[in-house]
Amino acid sequence: MPYATITIDRDFTVADVPRRLFGSFVEHMGRCVYTGIYEPGHPRADERGFRQDVMELVKEMGPTVIRYPGGNFVSGYRWEDGVGPQEDRPVRIDGAWHSIETNAFGLHEFVDWAREAEVEIMEAINLGTRGVEAARSLVEYANHPGGTYWSDLRRKNGAEDPFDIKLWCLGNELDGPWQIGHKTAAEYGRLAQESAKAMKLVDPTIELVAVGSSNRQMPTFGSWEHTVLTHTYEEVDYVSMHAYYQEHDGDAASFLAEGVDMDAFIDGVISTIDAVKAAGKHTKQVNISFDEWNVWYQRGLETEDQPHQVARDWKTHPRLIEDTYSVTDAVVVGTLLHSLLRHGDRVRIANQAQLVNVIAPIRSEEGGPAWRQASFWPFARMAALARGQIMQLSLVSDQVSTKKFGEVDAVDAAATWDEERGKLALFVANRSLEEDGEVSLKLPGFTARSIASAEVLCVPEGGDRHLANVEDNQDAVTLVPLQEVGIQDGRVQLKLPALSWAVVEIDVESA
Ligand code: AHR
Repeated sequence: MPYATITIDRDFTVADVPRRLFGSFVEHMGRCVYTGIYEPGHPRADERGFRQDVMELVKEMGPTVIRYPGGNFVSGYRWEDGVGPQEDRPVRIDGAWHSIETNAFGLHEFVDWAREAEVEIMEAINLGTRGVEAARSLVEYANHPGGTYWSDLRRKNGAEDPFDIKLWCLGNELDGPWQIGHKTAAEYGRLAQESAKAMKLVDPTIELVAVGSSNRQMPTFGSWEHTVLTHTYEEVDYVSMHAYYQEHDGDAASFLAEGVDMDAFIDGVISTIDAVKAAGKHTKQVNISFDEWNVWYQRGLETEDQPHQVARDWKTHPRLIEDTYSVTDAVVVGTLLHSLLRHGDRVRIANQAQLVNVIAPIRSEEGGPAWRQASFWPFARMAALARGQIMQLSLVSDQVSTKKFGEVDAVDAAATWDEERGKLALFVANRSLEEDGEVSLKLPGFTARSIASAEVLCVPEGGDRHLANVEDNQDAVTLVPLQEVGIQDGRVQLKLPALSWAVVEIDVESA
């Protein structure tokens, strides 16, 4: 049975919990917008076409910030197509996803939706086919109070007050040859620098994210960030990271350890940022926006169930990459969130990709129901309970063997301390596929009073690790009370089922 000791000392904190770490992503892709968050005529849609069944699940999941409108989509997008009277908006080809974009949903609709969902907007601009002029016009349209061409057009289109969007992505994945308007690092670095300058001349209060590598395997990873930041360091606040993980050839052990890869990837990008900072004698600190991450089974562009990705026909909202997430996937999602939280001093924004239907924790059917995937739960609980300070962990764990990473800790964790509420939250996973685990939590500087709540996501009785929530069995995988947890001699002791993710809230006093 894997055994782990975790020590959390009251005096050793990492940083305040960046609330933007619990972000998500809505792209005009597949059925994320159309028949996801927006479906006029659906029995649960309001007069604006916003699906209220989906809205309720979004609010329950609790994302804090949502990136929009892409993704690869944004690199061919004209934002002007999505504003003004709906009947006048042009129908366009979306080259990124071989789809038809009706533009029925655009910036005003997203702002209204985001206000209702109580999320901050993170707006991406098109630096694939467009550039400085379109970028600064969009900032003026969105954020300038009025009395100018673009701000008055916004008012004419029904929004008297500025949208006041603070967070902006300077394009998407422009290092990738698949990207419309793909660029070299130097080409992108210069364009991003000039776009950033022009955008900040319109609104100096905005925060900007430069595009980093599309993934750690990109041949240009490292040099891309170095070149881009050398051009943009003074103008931007963040550099982006993207990573998707999947189980290969039934190797669940390696898959469950992908948090190790995420840790190393983040550490690598931090090193590059700081090298550029030192070489350029900069004093400000650029941080990380991990604005796409998730489990994604990348089965190539054409699959049996989703043939239209490279199809000859053009559809308005084809089914694209609608992955179904199992218990195993949910545990991995939990560990990826641990990695992001442990790095919360430098990863200040993160967006799970995406929100609905497209590799998403929420699924919906056209005219039908909406439900939570297994991966919904770790996100929802961490978004709700990770408050206050991120705590440094000293974790000594028995090991599990993996093909990809060698020996790794069987137990993986992250923790936060909310001094105001007197609550310590421990997020913890058991990566062992066969054996239950035991965790002993030492809390120097704290007095543990009681267990406020304890829940676990694991393989239910009679199920297996591939069990998932589907339309006709929507709650097969859910959180259940963690049975064996208690306080003995000032230590919190808990038993974790094999292959599980758990959250334990402890009432603590500062000793
Ligand atoms: O999230 C799906 C796609 O993955 C995004 O459009 C793109 O940025 C990434 O490659």
